[in-house]
Amino acid sequence: MPKLTLSARLVAIGLLLGARLASANEVADTRIVVDTSTLPAITGAAGDANPYRGNSRAADIGRQAFNQACARCHGPDGDNKGQVGPDLLKLDRGCSRIADPAIREMCIVDNDQYFLKSVQDGKTRVGVVHMPAWKDVLPPAAIWTIRSFLESRARPATPVQSR
Ligand code: HEC
Repeated sequence: MPKLTLSARLVAIGLLLGARLASANEVADTRIVVDTSTLPAITGAAGDANPYRGNSRAADIGRQAFNQACARCHGPDGDNKGQVGPDLLKLDRGCSRIADPAIREMCIVDNDQYFLKSVQDGKTRVGVVHMPAWKDVLPPAAIWTIRSFLESRARPATPVQSR
């Protein structure tokens, strides 16, 4: 009976979603404060590249921020060992395969924007929060320090860094 099969499926989906809801409605930790006062102020427009690329002080700040805010789902220092979130050290891997430096740079800037937006808005699928939105906790400067930290650890060292 097709009708029974369908409702059986719906029940199964409902159970699955229920189970995920119970474990996956995540919120951002609002106690996290990232001090970026020792870094240059961000002057560029939204849509620009990571202003702290290659800045080792930013990467140090980003490491602390990452380990407070992100490590529980993306692994300590970004080393993903079976945590729920994807491996962020691989984010620029596709770009690193592009030979033309100008096009590679465009690819990395695209990823900068994807990174910023992903962190600001979080990730919600069919009403389930897989990653909370951070825009009320982390200003763009703090998010860029995290991106710089992850870039400094990326395997292989992908971005062409200007120091
Ligand atoms: C509660 C767990 C959790 C926390 C905390 C968390 N994330 Fe995530 N994040 C995820 C999950 C799960 C995904 C994949 C979601 C999806 O694609 O539906 C994800 C996806 C991402 C993506 C997109 C990656 C890709 O390959 O598409 C970025 C970038 C990201 N997270 C950065 C961060 C940063 C930076 C922080 C800390 C400020 C953070 N996340 C905190 C769970 C988390």
